[in-house]
Amino acid sequence: MISVRKSDACMGAEVPGVDLSRPQSDQIFDEVRNALHRHHVLVFRGQSLEPASFLEFGNRFGRPEPHVLDQFHHSEYTDILVLSNVRKDGKPIGLADGGTYWHTDYSYLQIPARATLLYSIQVPKLGGDTLFADQERAYEDLPEAMKNRIDGRVTLNVYGNRDDPDQASRTSAYAPTQEQKEKRGATLIRHPLVRRHPYTGRKALYAVSGTSFAIEGMPDNAGLSLLRELSAHSTQPKYQYRVKYGVGDVVVWDNASVLHSATLTDPDDGRTLFRITVKEAQRPVA
Ligand SMILES: [Fe+2]
Repeated sequence: MISVRKSDACMGAEVPGVDLSRPQSDQIFDEVRNALHRHHVLVFRGQSLEPASFLEFGNRFGRPEPHVLDQFHHSEYTDILVLSNVRKDGKPIGLADGGTYWHTDYSYLQIPARATLLYSIQVPKLGGDTLFADQERAYEDLPEAMKNRIDGRVTLNVYGNRDDPDQASRTSAYAPTQEQKEKRGATLIRHPLVRRHPYTGRKALYAVSGTSFAIEGMPDNAGLSLLRELSAHSTQPKYQYRVKYGVGDVVVWDNASVLHSATLTDPDDGRTLFRITVKEAQRPVA
């Protein structure tokens, strides 16, 4: 049986005593999955993993989907994306400054991400934390009138950060080529604004920050301002959990129930992580 140490924040938990370099029994993995659904973000400190064992753990959550930016895939394992601000021979070894704004992974794809896993390899002296915001609790706390207003609504999504279209900015999304977008089906994507979790059925606000830029059936400005209002509500400090990394830490989060945001680092202060993102098993009901 695993032990789960809940954080002091409204969500998030550490799972001590599990060695992810070994295969986990079905029973242990069921407990890990249930803990993920309950706490939304799990932290396994101080692991020592080969890329293959990290991938084996990721595969337990579902089918990994290689990232649209294929130039930053791990050289041997395309299902692993290298996140790094380190440059070697003048070239970046990974994606730097990825996701430094509130978003949920793959909301620009028709089948979004179920879980994302990070394995921390190099930790900067300052910055590089990941922030999470609980979208189930944020939905629950909305006034009934707002719930009635947004239930059943559908958002329109495209790749990128709607609040920073300046591609030279560090908080913009790193732009894929047209070919890369087409290869992964990253076009105009519809998602429910309030989604039921694919496993637990609990309702949460979905992708109210990041890729969503309009709400179907509402004038563009009104839709965008409602999305901004919901984003401001759902990312308040009371809904947040912050992860600070040590070397070897593995973090797993549930993209159906949280938004997350990376924090910027000094480009001279090295930060490197491996990332695996697993897609949902089926298209959720809109
Ligand atoms: Fe992300």
